[in-house]
Amino acid sequence: MKFKVTVLPGDGIGIEVTREAVACLETVAEKFGHEFEFIEQLIGGVALDKTGVPLPDQTLETCLASDAVLLGAVGAPQYDNNPPKLKPETGLLGLRAGLGVFANLRPAFLHETLINASPLKPEIVRGTDMLIVRELAGGAYFGQPREITEERGLNTMAYTAPEVERVARVAFEIARGRRNKVSSIDKANVLESSQLWRKVVTRVGADYPDVTLEHGYVDSCAMALVTRPTSFDVIVTENLFGDILSDEAAVLTGSLGMLPSASIGGKVDLYEPVHGSAPDIAGRGIANPLGAIASAAMLLRHTCKLEAPAAALETAISRILADGYGTPDLKSQPNQVSTSEIGRHIRRHIAQSAA
Ligand code: NAD
Ligand code: IPM
Ligand code: MN
Repeated sequence: MKFKVTVLPGDGIGIEVTREAVACLETVAEKFGHEFEFIEQLIGGVALDKTGVPLPDQTLETCLASDAVLLGAVGAPQYDNNPPKLKPETGLLGLRAGLGVFANLRPAFLHETLINASPLKPEIVRGTDMLIVRELAGGAYFGQPREITEERGLNTMAYTAPEVERVARVAFEIARGRRNKVSSIDKANVLESSQLWRKVVTRVGADYPDVTLEHGYVDSCAMALVTRPTSFDVIVTENLFGDILSDEAAVLTGSLGMLPSASIGGKVDLYEPVHGSAPDIAGRGIANPLGAIASAAMLLRHTCKLEAPAAALETAISRILADGYGTPDLKSQPNQVSTSEIGRHIRRHIAQSAA
């Protein structure tokens, strides 16, 4: 079987971590006997520099003609004051919209080996294993009107019932394959868009009597993530809340660099680590590539339906962590190595494992 993957390294550490994820996919393909065709395209700041826009038509067209898209990260300080249309981040939002992906799956799983890399006490964080389902196509990120003038900035947080229903169904379906619990997070005590959210999620939940549904407010959830992280299984929440809560959940697992994601539900699935371009460490070869590599494992599972290769890649991640390897963001790891060395160790484990 052959899979066409568009690779969008983007900016900063996006380039460094994507390189390792692609190399891991190549090793897995060789080991398990399938094939990848990788086509690299521009997005973000590098696209702005070379073409004048953050998402060139050719990039989106290539992505739409692929089986999956693997993205690094976009953004760099020199573009921060650009007008909205010329920001790297606008390229990423345009890509998500162009692909039509609406459910962003962000699994936050703590490897036992990283228990001392987490900022939380071991007795609180041990066993953390949650999946945030972030709505990705609506809310304040896409609501109209939006505007910026010298005197006013305006965004609109809006949801329609069908938008909430489709992402809620994704969350309930996934919960059935996990621990049968959905926590729907909103701000229904203040926001109308959240009042609709809660009503629709409750209605959808009635179709899943085997799944426990609880509702919570986002401020309280931010607290609960650090006081009782193991009480969460699947969290479903709107776009902006999901963005914020997933960085918080990520760091519970040792580092923001650990978290992968899959964006699904559209024409072509998109895989990317949760972290950004990390300008503070870019170009130094010390970025943690495990979020990007775990995103490649999600690509194998969700798009390619290749469970054994996906599991092999995830096992290799666990193995190198258990061997004590880690980039400097994982301070508790005794064997501090570079981005490319992490990739090399993972590939070694895959090559040595039984197919
Ligand atoms: P960031 O996620 O890039 O970095 C936050 C902190 O975490 C930094 O200290 C960074 O060094 C560290 N970090 C992040 N990923 C890491 C990794 N893999 N290994 C080790 N350390 C890691 O967030 P930021 O600094 O707020 O944003 C920087 C730029 O990235 C901005 O332009 C922002 O818009 C963009 N961004 C892009 C994406 C994306 O492309 N999906 C996501 C988030 C932020
Ligand atoms: C993420 C990022 C993006 C988002 C930005 C860069 C547009 O923070 O993927 O989490 O807010 O969705
Ligand atoms: Mn984010």
